[in-house]
Amino acid sequence: MHIHQYEKLWLGLSLLLIVGFVATVTYGAVGAPAISMVDDSGETVDPNAIGDHPKFGDPGVEKVGENEYAAYVVARQFIFQPDPIVVPANSTVTFYVTSADVIHGFSVVGTNANTMVVPGEVAELTVEVDEPQEYGIICHEYCGRAHHDMEGLLKVVPEDEYEGGDAE
Ligand code: CUA
Repeated sequence: MHIHQYEKLWLGLSLLLIVGFVATVTYGAVGAPAISMVDDSGETVDPNAIGDHPKFGDPGVEKVGENEYAAYVVARQFIFQPDPIVVPANSTVTFYVTSADVIHGFSVVGTNANTMVVPGEVAELTVEVDEPQEYGIICHEYCGRAHHDMEGLLKVVPEDEYEGGDAE
């Protein structure tokens, strides 16, 4: 059978496309270093016993290194705890976020922090903050009747005003 030159070319190109698609999807799923999905390898928590958890039982911010802070955050219908989350300027903040009930979202507006919050799992994300300022935090996964009201606050305060906790 004779196959026209152009037809061969198109066959070849479409084959290449298919290989490309498969490669892209595979890379995105397992290979890409900068992309992390909701943490399925990390810590898990029992959403029904969050009150007893050593960190999430009394969520807040703690110092973990020179200019490094860990912020434990619980999302629940329809608040984030603590609120506000207070951290000092010029620091690196790693958020550990979990849910006490249903799936929520956690997005620190104006930063690259954005994750789903799944009950039983701990989402981990790190943000660098510099100048003192306030960032809104929003839930961007529909979680019930007051979803649209579910918001929090990240307060970056001057270093000399920071008191080392989540209290005002
Ligand atoms: Cu929580 Cu929407």
